[in-house]
Amino acid sequence: MKTIVQPSLFPKDKKAISDRLSESADIVFAQGDSRDVLAQCPDGFATLIITSPPYNIGKEYETQTKLDHYLNQLHPILKELVRVLSPKGSLCWQVGNYVENSEVFPLDIYFYPIFKQMGLQLRNRIIWTFEHGLHCSVRFSGRYETLLWFTKSEDYTFNLDAIRVPSKYPGKTNFRPGPKYGLPSGNPLGKNPSDIWKFMAKEWESGLWNIPNVKANHLEKTIHPCQFPIELVERCVLSMTCEGDWVLDPFSGVGSSMLAAVRHHRRAMGCEREKIYIEEAKRRMDLLFTGQLPYRPLGKPVYQPTGKEKVSQVPIQWLEDKKAL
Ligand SMILES: C[S@@+](CC[C@H](N)C(=O)[O-])C[C@H]1O[C@@H](n2cnc3c(N)ncnc32)[C@H](O)[C@@H]1O
Repeated sequence: MKTIVQPSLFPKDKKAISDRLSESADIVFAQGDSRDVLAQCPDGFATLIITSPPYNIGKEYETQTKLDHYLNQLHPILKELVRVLSPKGSLCWQVGNYVENSEVFPLDIYFYPIFKQMGLQLRNRIIWTFEHGLHCSVRFSGRYETLLWFTKSEDYTFNLDAIRVPSKYPGKTNFRPGPKYGLPSGNPLGKNPSDIWKFMAKEWESGLWNIPNVKANHLEKTIHPCQFPIELVERCVLSMTCEGDWVLDPFSGVGSSMLAAVRHHRRAMGCEREKIYIEEAKRRMDLLFTGQLPYRPLGKPVYQPTGKEKVSQVPIQWLEDKKAL
């Protein structure tokens, strides 16, 4: 089944699109090094900064280097990010592992003290878990990445009602004696989604997304080797910002964060070094405005194989090999 976002969900008028931040811009595609781009931005303009920086793992858009060097290179950008973050703002930093000679370096452990030293306060360390990915032979296969949610102060936006998820047991009632005894104990809008998030994930990278019967689960895949699912960003946009606020992604790739922001009537700015990704982000934004963006809705259950798909079945060759033993 192909899911297309309902046109009625889009902002009615096309927004003012620019290549630099200005009073009149609503959407900014800034091509260049984010260090240079951010230097031109005013203090405190961004209510939410959400990004997945390069992980230094040798993807096509980065040159792998020693961990210390990688962190030192990013340091000036991190300083700029904290400067442009609004006093009531949030910074969501999504990272995985850097691996050297099979030794794992969880990047959030390295970034946490840097941001803490710059004055940010951690609100959650969110686990983003997925079921597919590379199969390791010398350690357990990695099936999660983390998202560090920092705020700049104690005074920050958190719209919990906007992102509640259905309760598992909505019929639960208060059992303690008192005036609420026997009444429903949950919230009619649903429960807090917790700090473990299961979104569609790395099937894209494992190659599984090419298989026809699961293709419908990978609607958003583009030319980028590691893009965000839009729904992951949506949860942050809805809970941490209000309409009209600026959402900034300093490593914006093909614009997934920007799409999530604009879709919910926020203003969006992306910085990206590679022209090809900026072009793809613009193409996706056009699709959003014409109601044609392939999109996996927030809250849609993660695909579960039925057992009938060819990929779910044990290869005949394996069965024959077993018989021959
Ligand atoms: C992990 S990817 C982000 C993908 C993005 N979340 C998406 O959904 O498409 C990191 C991106 O940062 C870009 N990049 C790396 N260093 C950069 C820099 N100094 N300034 C701007 N962009 C940079 C890379 O080209 C890459 O597209």
